[in-house]
Amino acid sequence: MTQNKLIVSNWKMNLKLSDSKKLVNILIRSVEKTKPHIKKIICPQFLLIPNISNLIKKSKILLGSQDCHYKENGAFTGESSVQLLKLFKCKYVILGHSERREYNTDSNLLILKKIKTVQKYGLKPIICIGESIELRKNGEYLDFLKNQLKECVPNFNDVIVAYEPIWSIGSGLVPSFEDILEVKDFVKKYLVEEKKIKKVSFLYGGSVSSENIKGIIENSNIDGALIGGSSLKEKEIKEIISIFNFY
Ligand code: PGA
Repeated sequence: MTQNKLIVSNWKMNLKLSDSKKLVNILIRSVEKTKPHIKKIICPQFLLIPNISNLIKKSKILLGSQDCHYKENGAFTGESSVQLLKLFKCKYVILGHSERREYNTDSNLLILKKIKTVQKYGLKPIICIGESIELRKNGEYLDFLKNQLKECVPNFNDVIVAYEPIWSIGSGLVPSFEDILEVKDFVKKYLVEEKKIKKVSFLYGGSVSSENIKGIIENSNIDGALIGGSSLKEKEIKEIISIFNFY
């Protein structure tokens, strides 16, 4: 069976309701004829989720969230529950994004708790890991990534990891194909051998564009991409989807 390819749009805190509807309608049309193993996932801000859930109802597009709380409900002012995400048909949740690790309190332990709650409700976590430029330069990045995996990933069968070097996010800088491949092999080996996880999907994220994605797919053999800036641009994301559909 062909391995699924996940194309995940991380819209972050962007797009107003009208713009998001316009973009979703375009995406619905552009995935209509894609191969069955191409999975297009949109992760909008929380407040857009009900509208988008309704819009994509009859389409091939899948819905995800950019975060959730680890408790199912309760006195947690300002937080969002996975129960409601499920109600609105979210199938995926991005967890451990470096922006949440940096600007919020998302530690490895908290991310682990969130992953367990998400799994309990049958949604799939997309677990983000990634090193700083300092760690990349001083050669300690693999140890750092290993520790993120060790502390965040519980033992379950089907894991999606998104490798997003912090220095690559929104910067236009992308690691070499060899560097992505090195991390991919390292992550898969660690999770399969040490954590006894049966299936690992490896996504790359960080300044993905229609210009660089073909090379990354061909040379680093990724299972998909987590896309920020380019996912907001109609022409870019359509082109990225059509490139993935070729493989
Ligand atoms: P970028 O963001 O594609 O704009 O670099 C990726 C991400 O943060 O998920």
